[in-house]
Amino acid sequence: MSENTYYITTAIDYVNAAPHLGHAYEKIATDVMARFQRLLGKEVFFLTGTDEHGTKVEKTAQARGLTPKQHTDELVEEFKKAWQYLNLTYDRFIRTTDKDHYEVVEYLWRKMAAKGDIEKRAYKGLYCSGCEKFVTERDLNEAGECPNHQRKPEEVEEENYFFKLSKYKEAIQTHIRNNPGFVLPDFRAAEVLQMLEDVEDISVSRHKDSVSWGIPVPDDADQVIYVWIDALSNYVTGIGYQHDEALFNKFWPAIHIIGKDILRFHAIYWPAMLMSAEIPLPQQVFAHGFININDAKISKSVGNVVSPFTLQERFDLPNPDPIRYYLMTVATFGQDGSFTEDDFKLKVNADLANNLGNLLNRTLNMTNKYFDGQVPQSQHAKPGVLHTEGVDEVRQAFENYDFQKAADLILQLVDWANKEINDKEPWTLFKEGKLQELADLMYTVLETLRQVAIMLSPITPVLSDEIWSQLGYQASLSDLMPRWDDIANSNIQPGQRVNLQGPILPRLDSELAGANKKK
Ligand code: ME8
Ligand code: MG
Repeated sequence: MSENTYYITTAIDYVNAAPHLGHAYEKIATDVMARFQRLLGKEVFFLTGTDEHGTKVEKTAQARGLTPKQHTDELVEEFKKAWQYLNLTYDRFIRTTDKDHYEVVEYLWRKMAAKGDIEKRAYKGLYCSGCEKFVTERDLNEAGECPNHQRKPEEVEEENYFFKLSKYKEAIQTHIRNNPGFVLPDFRAAEVLQMLEDVEDISVSRHKDSVSWGIPVPDDADQVIYVWIDALSNYVTGIGYQHDEALFNKFWPAIHIIGKDILRFHAIYWPAMLMSAEIPLPQQVFAHGFININDAKISKSVGNVVSPFTLQERFDLPNPDPIRYYLMTVATFGQDGSFTEDDFKLKVNADLANNLGNLLNRTLNMTNKYFDGQVPQSQHAKPGVLHTEGVDEVRQAFENYDFQKAADLILQLVDWANKEINDKEPWTLFKEGKLQELADLMYTVLETLRQVAIMLSPITPVLSDEIWSQLGYQASLSDLMPRWDDIANSNIQPGQRVNLQGPILPRLDSELAGANKKK
């Protein structure tokens, strides 16, 4: 990876049910970062996809009376549909059933085996297919069940292949200690160091009689490669490893955005696999928190699964930006957040429909009234005059994955502009004939709106486009591909004709859902 390239990935989801708000959360955050990095002028590669092998998926398919391939082919469409709705700008959607991935997994296996890091051992243990991992007695509750899945693990006794994970323990410890920021947030790095204390070799294959849906071990067709070895490898397949070396060399190493529950796999297993295969380690692993619904864990058995489409229907959303905005502001990225419908409605209405929507609306109305619909001449009509430090603070917040703070700072600017209007009363300035003061005020607010549209665009691309077009720009914001530096190095041009349309977002009201249909 050079200074100018940026490779970011999400976890790849198990295809055993349609994606819910928790899956959406991770994908949106990654998309926000990808869009922000493009604004900075980086060449970005954004990878997402699906994790399709293993017991969990095999059983779900069986229960539906389908082959795993039929089942995954069908369900993958649900993921793509949701991600398209949410406006994710990924560059590749990888499926672990893709042919190039198959080849990469085999290749990596052979490399690790050639290194002497894989060997066959007799093994007896407990396996939870919900977690797709071997568990020990102390992982279980009093009833002897996996606490995550309320199910007894299966007893497994077989010969399978082991990966010598413990061999890499010290190297990983050293890497984490020498590279602050390799695992983020910092408290997660401390957790990984703790986990490393008692790390043991891991079983990395299963007999095909227990799992048939997977990639066979090279030269031993009785064994199937452990789904996590398979899944983690997607991050190198996705960027051309062994298939497009130029692409791979251009973008690797990756930044991995994952949930806190799969930190061990990404911060220990994956680096060890890469060391074994002699591939440079990822640049960063960021473990985000969980989205709960009304403070309860999202779960099929609780019956509280909310998908992006549930919200779209319930609130008759004209676009996905309310979901994107809400999820990016519900908690500090890295901490858990709780979704509630009331909170969603309140936050979206207060920030987007009222503060931002009204600012645009009243500003354009007054521009029409006092300046014949044209951006007025003003002493402030010079690049870099307005909000330079604030813009910098927003950039830093995005760089630190603090999407909540970024949005908060942007909304403070919106509040400030609303207050300027309230305090300085354009209608009074007009009545009193103070036309230059009026022009300066209106120019300032219009320019603030231009800056807000760009800064908020990683989070709310559709609303930003809408603001942009109402400000009178001919080319859309997304077609223009502005740079972050344009916020300070450019400015709205006096004389530009604004284009007042309706509200950028109708107020959300679940009771009225259906009444405010999209035009
Ligand atoms: O773990 N809130 O897949 P997965 C936030 N296939 N994030 C959540 C969440 C919630 N309520 N529920 C799940 C897997 N996630 C593996 C990954 S990567 C090589 C293989 C996140 O479908 C979860 O933390 O169980 C993970 O990052 C992602 O969604 C996929 O979870
Ligand atoms: Mg999971």
